[in-house]
Amino acid sequence: MVPERDRTILAACAIMTFIAVAPSLARDTRPIAIIPQPVSVIAQSGTFTLTADTVIQTDRATADLGRRLARYLEPATGFTLRVQAGPASSGRRITLAIDPRLRRLAPEGYTLDVAARRIVVRAPEPAGIFYGIQTLRQLLPPEIFREARVAGVPWTLPAVKIEDMPRFAWRGMHLDVGRHFMPKEFIKKYLDLLALHKLNTFHWHLTEDQGWRIEIRKYPKLTEVGAWRKQTIVGRQGDKPEAATYDGIRHGGYYTQDDVREIVAYARDRFITIVPEIEMPGHALAAIASYPALGVDGTPAEVATRWGVFDNILNADDSTIAFMQDVLTEVMGLFPGRFIHIGGDEAAKARWKANPRVQARIAALGLKDEDALQSWFIRQMDGFLASKGRRLIGWDEILQGGLAPGAAVMSWQGVTGGIAAARQGHDVVMAPTSHTYFDYYQARPAAAEPLAIGGYLPIETVYAFEPVPADLEPQYAAHVLGAQGQIWTEYIGTPKQAEYMAFPRACALAEVVWTPAASRNLADFLARLDVHARRLAILDVNFRPPQVTSPVATPR
Ligand code: ACM
Repeated sequence: MVPERDRTILAACAIMTFIAVAPSLARDTRPIAIIPQPVSVIAQSGTFTLTADTVIQTDRATADLGRRLARYLEPATGFTLRVQAGPASSGRRITLAIDPRLRRLAPEGYTLDVAARRIVVRAPEPAGIFYGIQTLRQLLPPEIFREARVAGVPWTLPAVKIEDMPRFAWRGMHLDVGRHFMPKEFIKKYLDLLALHKLNTFHWHLTEDQGWRIEIRKYPKLTEVGAWRKQTIVGRQGDKPEAATYDGIRHGGYYTQDDVREIVAYARDRFITIVPEIEMPGHALAAIASYPALGVDGTPAEVATRWGVFDNILNADDSTIAFMQDVLTEVMGLFPGRFIHIGGDEAAKARWKANPRVQARIAALGLKDEDALQSWFIRQMDGFLASKGRRLIGWDEILQGGLAPGAAVMSWQGVTGGIAAARQGHDVVMAPTSHTYFDYYQARPAAAEPLAIGGYLPIETVYAFEPVPADLEPQYAAHVLGAQGQIWTEYIGTPKQAEYMAFPRACALAEVVWTPAASRNLADFLARLDVHARRLAILDVNFRPPQVTSPVATPR
């Protein structure tokens, strides 16, 4: 499966790392291979061996996490570990303790101390305990990720002292379910994988030209009509989509509000916040097909069957603003997170320019042009969300015509939009095509890869990403909340293909957003990834074996 030259590189890296840590791991020959790399890992001598009588000791705030840890460990080991609140037992134990003295760590930080008879995870908040548990899982043999009993594996962890906390608060992965619907069970798997990599934000791109994927009770046609397209373009879309082949197969699906509640709860249990995205005023053709009065000229339209940027755009009537605010009201009722994403990208203005009613609206509002109308539109959403205690985030085009006061910006067209927004005092999330578009090819030659949208983004480029641009003045750096990887699904029709594009690049991104910049080391990462790949394989993740083409630096 792994091309021979890649195997050689990875094996060489693994040996180098092993030599680097071997003296202090005399009694455990497995290299420590945690992704993302913690802030500090100090290997000790000795091991802890998990046995059927190991007790998980919790306090009140960690009892649920203790049960979760027991559930993580049970399938492969066959041990049903006792979870006990309160005082220590004398046998081997794993202690999960909230420790307010650790406030010096970020809220999601933790310490993990593995000694011969005792493992202790401490954190100032439950989220840190959860991340300590993720690290603990990665200290065990990869077989711990099996969902059935594995015989003959000693369940040992190397003795180690770890201190850890994330670099950024927004550690995200995005998934477009508009172009291709992805089933609920896959969303849960994706969330599990995010959690394993200490990613804490799932940007769920729920509406598109090609499909509206979330039930809105007040407007049932959004899913009755908008969740379905009659067919899909086949292969790469060229310049003449009207001459292309279409598959003739109806495609669609949506999440009921109960599905959404289930997924939100699943995410919350994994310390993941979901940021739902409802696209406006562009990329809204499925909504316009459902309710033609939302469009500029009210004429019937169809849910899109091909890709690209369409002329169709929402009008700016009061009724349309109210409609979209009604949608956001239901969305806010489902998603408890602070941020609501309103899209804002690639809104083609031609129909606004050509339509007398829209021009009259621009004049009546005293606005300069169509960019100003877009800005006005977004401000209606910003004020509405802010009045409900939420914050708007949108793609960097929301800067055009002036940014709404409370808006945060997701910078995708490079980092310049993010820099401009940060300088104006707005929070930003870095998501540039150059380093975070995981729908781009990850290996060459492209012809040997499954069809993708284009571009080229190998794992080492992801790994080299610096979310705080060098030319952003230090006083604005705190406005960079973090970064995230994008999975746009025009050419990604199935969960397996989504996994292929996401992994292992998401592993590299996890390290970008978690690990201190000074500790990042590509060769060391690739060596750890070699071990991590076994975990991913056991978890049935269809990752692409990394193909590293640029020279790999010698580990420190
Ligand atoms: C985007 O890729 N249009 C945000």
